[in-house]
Order: sequence, then C-alpha cells, then structure tokens
Amino acid sequence: MLQDKKIVLGVTGSIAAYKAAELTREFVKRGAAVRVIMTGNAAEFIAPLTFQTLSSNAVHSEMYPVINDYNLAHISLAEYADIMVIAPATANIIGKIAAGIADDLLTTTVMTTRAPVLICPAMNTNMYENAIVQENIMQLTSRGYLFMEPGYGKLACRSEGQGRLPEVSDIVEEVESILTVKDLGDERIIVTAGPTREPLDPVRYITNYSSGKMGYALAIAGRRRGARVVLISGPSALTAPRGVTFVSVSSAMEMKEAVMAHLKASTIVIKAAAVADYRPATRLASKMKKQAGPLTLSLERNPDIIAEIGKKKGKRILVGFAVETENLIENARAKLIDKNMDLIVANDVTQAGAGFGYDTNIIKILDRNGGQVELPMMDKIAAADRILDRVKDIIAEKGRK
Ligand code: C5P
Repeated sequence: MLQDKKIVLGVTGSIAAYKAAELTREFVKRGAAVRVIMTGNAAEFIAPLTFQTLSSNAVHSEMYPVINDYNLAHISLAEYADIMVIAPATANIIGKIAAGIADDLLTTTVMTTRAPVLICPAMNTNMYENAIVQENIMQLTSRGYLFMEPGYGKLACRSEGQGRLPEVSDIVEEVESILTVKDLGDERIIVTAGPTREPLDPVRYITNYSSGKMGYALAIAGRRRGARVVLISGPSALTAPRGVTFVSVSSAMEMKEAVMAHLKASTIVIKAAAVADYRPATRLASKMKKQAGPLTLSLERNPDIIAEIGKKKGKRILVGFAVETENLIENARAKLIDKNMDLIVANDVTQAGAGFGYDTNIIKILDRNGGQVELPMMDKIAAADRILDRVKDIIAEKGRK
C-alpha cells in the first residue's frame, strides 16, 4: 500500500498528460499524499484545477510565486518527496535533467531531491528512438534515475509504435515496488495460483471456484520485496503481474510439470493453487453424447504436488494452503505435518470476506512448532506480506542465512 507515502508527481507537456490525472487518483486512492508540479507546457494540455481537485492540494508550477509563507517550493517539495514520479516525461524534460538544466520548478526540484526519481516517457516513436533521447536515458539510468519503458500501440500523432505512457496500473505498481524494502532479495519463489481444469472431453472440464487472487497477491508482494518470482497459474481472469516469470497451465498434471521444472532453482515454494484432487480417468477425444438415464464419471487421483515437493524439499521453505469448510485447524495441522510443509495458511471459506473471489482474506498461519498466527480480515496483498514475514522468520530460525 502507498498509505501515507509522499509522492511528488511531475507532469510535462505531452498529450498523455491527461493520464496523469488518473495516476493522481490511483495514488490518492491507495492512501498516498500527492503534490503535483506542472510545467508550463503541461498546463496547455490539462488544467491545473484537475490535479488540484484530485490531489486536494495546490498545484505547483511557478518558480517564484508570491507567497506569504516563505518556503522555497523546490527545496520543500524535494525534501517532502518519498518518491518523485515524472509522468508523462517528454524528450525535453529528459534532456534537461540529463544536461543538468534547472530552469523551472520541476527541474530544480529533481535536481534537489534525494528521493528516487521514476521517469515515465511518453512521446512520438521517432522522438523516443532518437539517439539523443536514448543517450540521455542511458546516462540518467547510470546515475540512478529510474525509467519505465513506454508501451507500444497507437499514438496521438496517428502513428503506431513505442511511445505510449506506460499503463497507469503499471506505474502505480512500479512505485509500490520502488518504495518497498527489498528484504527478500536473495530469494527465488515459486508461487502456484488459481484452479486447475481437468478435461473430460474437448468441451468440458471439472474445476473449482478459485480466482487466483491470493496466489497473485503473493507473487506481487514477493516481487516488490525483491524476490525473483515464478508464478505458475491455472486458468484465471487476472492479468499476469509485472516483473514475474509467468507460466500458464491448465490441468494438475501440467501444473506439476511446471513446478518440478522450476523447483531446482527455487528457495521458497508457496502452493496457493486449488489443485483438483481428481481428474476424469479418460479424456474423450470427441464430445460425450447425452444418454438416457444418469451418468457416472470415473475419476482418478491427481498427483499431490506439494507432498512430492515435501519429500525432496532440501533447505527450501514450503508453504501450503488449507481451504476448509469444517475443522479448519485440525485439518490444516494434519496437512502441515503429513506433507512436510514449513507453514500452512488456513482459510475458512465459509466466512464472509475470506477465500475464493474476494479481495480480502481471513487467515491463520500455522507452523511446525505448534505456533499459530491469527490475522483479522485484510486485503490479500497485506495477507501475502504477513505470510512472507513468517517465511522470513523460518529462514532466520533454520539459519539458512
Ligand atoms: O487439497 P489439499 O487441501 O490437501 O491442499 C493443501 C495444499 O496442497 C495446498 O497448498 C495445495 O496447493 C496443495 N496441493 C497440491 N497438489 C494437489 C492437491 C493439493 O500441491 N494435488
């Protein structure tokens, strides 16, 4: 979350400036305080009042405003910022920063701040590809300025190519990531997520209600904290998170294969997927025909992926989930021991605000020493962070590091 984070957003004169309004709104929605600096050209594209209203703060643009309270804006904003974001950033602003020019409020604030500066270019493809712009970006990158690559697609100048402002959701995620302490930088995490689909014939399958949200949240939280993450996901409506290796699978057998292929390189395995325990014994090559009377399906057991990992986990930390509708703790504890997990996350899906499809969860985290952390309802990213905190504790206890 960006709760109480202080963001100084620089908006420059690109047609994508209107998207900075949405960006401001998203930052504010996540609890951040936003101060907007607009260049003179930005104010030609979008009215300062828009940002003033969305950020509930006055918009800064003048270097020498007539003020009662003597507080130099470029110094105070530079010191105020936990992060500066320039979105959209034109070729001009990038060039000015690279050259050390400080002739307006935005460039002087960038020059003064010690906070990380994230620059999100948006411009015509030819401008972006121009060697001068590219050299400026390289030079600024080597000096520690952070850049996001512009996206491909249709541009305002009616051409198509690279130059679109990165998606607002991606910019927000990048800011979240930059502001997160990298305490899992040495870890390589496999996360499984979502349901599996067990095919019966070419048009039918058996599945469950898992949405994938808890697993995706774990992948996002792990990546923000610096881990390299492989997310192995069954069918889900969610978009693959930025910055993780995404492996899409369908059946439990495919999931097992993908997990085993990545197991060797991993240090932590978190199995949040709702893997089907059974699959149809035969997958028909053509569509099953209706018949008179009832139909009995023959199912066979799927491999228990986590139990197999448990047998050869070595020094890896293994985390499982127990989704139950009754005797939650007893069932979870039995699975924790039987499958040689280090932690199990117990999830009573009968409670409102917990389990499949929700953005929140109510979890209990059980360890092998009989310890149990009971957490109140919280959003799934926050819950993911608490799970990762417990993983860190176990790593410390086991003395791997
Ligand atoms: O299905 P069960 O409740 O035993 O699932 C507990 C844990 O085992 C979960 O973490 C789930 O991802 C994992 N599991 C698995 N392979 C299966 C079934 C479950 O890895 N075939």
